[in-house]
Amino acid sequence: MKLLVTGGAGYVGSVCARVMVDAGHDVTVVDNLSTGNRDAVPEGARFVEGDVSAVAEDVLADGDVDGVLHFAAQSLVGESVEAPEKYWYGNVVESLALLEAMRRTGTPRLVFSSTAATYGEPDAVPIVESSPTRPTNPYGATKLAIDHAISSYTVAHGLAAISLRYFNVAGAYAGAGENRRVETHLIPIVLQAALGHRDSVKIFGTDYHTDDGTAVRDYIHVHDLAQAHALALEAAVAGRHALYNLGSGAGFSVRQVIDTCREVTGIDIPVVEAPRRAGDPAVLIASSDKAIDELGWQPVKTALPTIVTDAWEYIRALGDRAHSATA
Ligand code: UFG
Repeated sequence: MKLLVTGGAGYVGSVCARVMVDAGHDVTVVDNLSTGNRDAVPEGARFVEGDVSAVAEDVLADGDVDGVLHFAAQSLVGESVEAPEKYWYGNVVESLALLEAMRRTGTPRLVFSSTAATYGEPDAVPIVESSPTRPTNPYGATKLAIDHAISSYTVAHGLAAISLRYFNVAGAYAGAGENRRVETHLIPIVLQAALGHRDSVKIFGTDYHTDDGTAVRDYIHVHDLAQAHALALEAAVAGRHALYNLGSGAGFSVRQVIDTCREVTGIDIPVVEAPRRAGDPAVLIASSDKAIDELGWQPVKTALPTIVTDAWEYIRALGDRAHSATA
């Protein structure tokens, strides 16, 4: 297929772009490099620098693009609480521009990076796709708004669309991993501390109603996630918007993640207890049964130590090139 990958210089987008190139697809990456790295764009993909709203329509107008994988987004929960405007413009307005570009150029297929953050604080876990959507932060609210916009485009304009609701993505694949200029995600932060790039790791919140008082998340390997995108591209049906959760179905607390990182690295990583981070739900665990049943998705690297081991190998190989700034 001929594919446009927005955000293909970012962490998840670059791994997916690589998997698509390796599968023989013709890939053009669009990225404004606001958070992504030019070096992360895989060899074999064309690269166009710019905002989606500025350049995507030109790429699509060049003709015969079969599908768009839309990763480009602002994606930090904490930042979205402090600067919601960045999320409403950067996520919703940019995605509406993409939908319009697709409509005007007759581009038939969309796979969208949605998120577990659309659900907010769940009444029950594991979360299924029909669970209520009550986001607890602007990040989740903007992704949910885009999901609604996509649904209406499928009905009105015959778009074939699939939204993939990621839980906590981690790990690395073929030399591509998490190396953001400003890092806020738990696993890379803990591994940066193991590498000696930080003095300690802050545990945000020790008074949650969980077994050890820290927040619980469902971690999914970035390569398993990429495989789901390949399946979604094939499965998208004109006039239909399907949604799928992608997680491993197991929850790990912040303390458990830190302990796993200690075991994998053999390093006693120092921690500091800190207040809760605004916008963080207590527990997010996915049911991915729908993706397994309907897309034929078969996640392979589901064990947390495997995910952490891949992330650790990646970050260790980076050495001094590993960023370590905190938001
Ligand atoms: N955490 C810490 N210390 C840190 C960093 C994080 O205690 O230094 C905690 C957070 O407070 C949270 C957990 O670790 O409880 C996971 O935090 P991350 O920042 O790694 O990930 P989030 O759960 O906030 O968000 C991620 C993605 C979102 C996605 C969400 C779905 O960034 O896009 O997972 O679960 F929506």
